[in-house]
Amino acid sequence: MIKKIGVLTSGGDAPGMNAAVRAVVRAGITHGLEVYAIYDGYRGLYEGKIERMYRKSVSEKLNRGGTFIGTARLPEFKYEEVREVCIENLHEYGIDALVCIGGDGTYHGALELTKMGIYCIGLPGTIDNDISGTEYTIGFDTALSTIVDAVDKLRDTSSSHRRCSIVEVMGRNCGALAIHAGIAVGAEIVICAETGYNEEEVIKTVCEAAKSKRHCIIIVSEHTIDIKALEQAINERTPFNARTTVLGYIQRGGSPTPRDRILASTMGVKAVEELLAGNGGTCICEVEGKLKAVPIEEALNQKRDQVSEKYREFKELW
Ligand code: F6P
Repeated sequence: MIKKIGVLTSGGDAPGMNAAVRAVVRAGITHGLEVYAIYDGYRGLYEGKIERMYRKSVSEKLNRGGTFIGTARLPEFKYEEVREVCIENLHEYGIDALVCIGGDGTYHGALELTKMGIYCIGLPGTIDNDISGTEYTIGFDTALSTIVDAVDKLRDTSSSHRRCSIVEVMGRNCGALAIHAGIAVGAEIVICAETGYNEEEVIKTVCEAAKSKRHCIIIVSEHTIDIKALEQAINERTPFNARTTVLGYIQRGGSPTPRDRILASTMGVKAVEELLAGNGGTCICEVEGKLKAVPIEEALNQKRDQVSEKYREFKELW
């Protein structure tokens, strides 16, 4: 029976991570466990940055963006000798199990630790919504709402000046933020890995929009195209004047939406229940509105075509 558990956040931060940490701490204490925060993700685990948490330690954190226990990326975690040091540090505090909040890199780390005897549960914390197995990740809804707010503002000025606004959003290799934002703001065009890119088609669509509209919104997922080259092509080949905006890290901050707070809180509770049931190497997923625990390997291998499906819906709206 486990007595002491740890919680860490790893990889890029996401709004709602604090709510998840709070839930793990409070649910753990409610079940009679000692709960420890590992600061700065796996890097902090390697460096032994561990502190006991109490109910009060997580007061006034629910509504805050970022992660108050810090996060980091530690590529060296793939080396067994690095993980062995981490496990020694956990043994020093008598910590038997961990809840690891982050993206798929975090999940791989959690799986490796589980194989080495420290049972870990993964919680999906990333704005990208790119984790297989779950329909929603903690932080996605808040980032999406930040993007929608920003694009609504850009549309005001684009319409005034009869301009085309090219907005680059985050997402790493996943177009979920771009496509959902495209639907929510009524964008004319979305460009991301799932949509592919054909400059001729984009120019045609922009020219078509110019016939009846005072603005044209193009949402581009990062790492897909050179937005400055597209700006130039639109300026040269369409009636619109184009402007680019990169939303950048603004998308990662801010107070989490109620949706993210609830998702994070309920997932945190579920993670503790999983550990108490003696399970490890699983992750918590939301599927059709219900939470369930799925083996990490199984979740990571699941095909994820929900983004392409959403794009089909987006195209119906043109
Ligand atoms: O995974 C979240 C994310 O914000 C991605 O959207 C982005 O590509 C990446 O992290 C940026 O990473 P970093 O914080 O290392 O610059």
